[in-house]
Amino acid sequence: MPDITLLRDKILKLKKDLNAVILAHNYQRAEVQNIADITGDSLELSRAAAKTDYRVIVFCGVHFMAESASILSPDKTVLLPEIAAGCPMADMVTVDGPRTTKRDLFTELYGITFEFPDEFTLRDLKKRHPGVPVVAYVNTSAAVKAESDICCTSSNVVKVVESLKEDTVICIPDRNLSAYAAKRTKKKIISWDGFCNVHNVQLTLDDVTRAKAEHPGALLVVHPECPPEVQDRADHITSTSGMLRYCKESTHKEFIIGTEEGILHRLRKDNPEKTFHLLSRKMICPNMKRTRLESVLRAMEKMEYVIKVPEEIRIPAKRALDRMLEVR
Ligand code: 13P
Ligand code: SF4
Repeated sequence: MPDITLLRDKILKLKKDLNAVILAHNYQRAEVQNIADITGDSLELSRAAAKTDYRVIVFCGVHFMAESASILSPDKTVLLPEIAAGCPMADMVTVDGPRTTKRDLFTELYGITFEFPDEFTLRDLKKRHPGVPVVAYVNTSAAVKAESDICCTSSNVVKVVESLKEDTVICIPDRNLSAYAAKRTKKKIISWDGFCNVHNVQLTLDDVTRAKAEHPGALLVVHPECPPEVQDRADHITSTSGMLRYCKESTHKEFIIGTEEGILHRLRKDNPEKTFHLLSRKMICPNMKRTRLESVLRAMEKMEYVIKVPEEIRIPAKRALDRMLEVR
């Protein structure tokens, strides 16, 4: 059993020596969130990465998040403590090459088939719809962002779609986020057919029925990555930090939370008088959970793993991210 206090002390000392800032996504393990300088959702962490003065950014999250930090702060050293911490949904769309996620495995495990064949790429979709702008969820690779017009997160997708002058837009890669946006805009949305296996595959309407029966007085708050039929039964749909704000401001005392388990740490810390239940015990993102205090310490000691986006990708990707950051 590692000595948490010792690990924390070493990390805090190294942080000073390296002039480093630790950013942690709301899904990270509690002990990792506790040593972070900033915790937040994808949008907040992107903003923090864009304006930090520190020399080193230790990004406790998944690969695409560290890439976004590198895109926005190219003069900083961005470290991702666990190099295998990826996002399967982000891997479901590529610019022109083969997909890295084995989609046949999804079909095998979950019986899900995809509308677009495996060899279909973002460039193919763009060719099919010339002149239609592409809105890329931040859960995409840097290369995909570089091929897109503007980025969005779960907290600003509707504003981003509305900010475009065109009446039809392409949204990639999450079909559930697209469905969420489509309900809230008059624009026509052409969606990629990707999904998050934590919010989509691990969740059914039965989970909603069971949770509501077990906690009849609780409000149901879900992430827009959940399937539309789950969203339809929710009292509120919002990003991870949106959930933190909503539950804090609400006069309600009990909530069922439809997103990754890590969010419960902050919810309970910020609201000791309120009760939170996870919508399904299966809502755990193995990639987000890869990072431990030991990984953070090793990353800082060895300065690994450095995430650096090549300039030819970084510049167009930054254009898409900057355009999103300008949308208010
Ligand atoms: P947020 O932008 O709400 O933090 O979500 C990121 C994510 O990966 C959800 O699965
Ligand atoms: Fe990706 Fe889903 Fe994990 Fe978020 S929860 S990082 S979308 S796999």
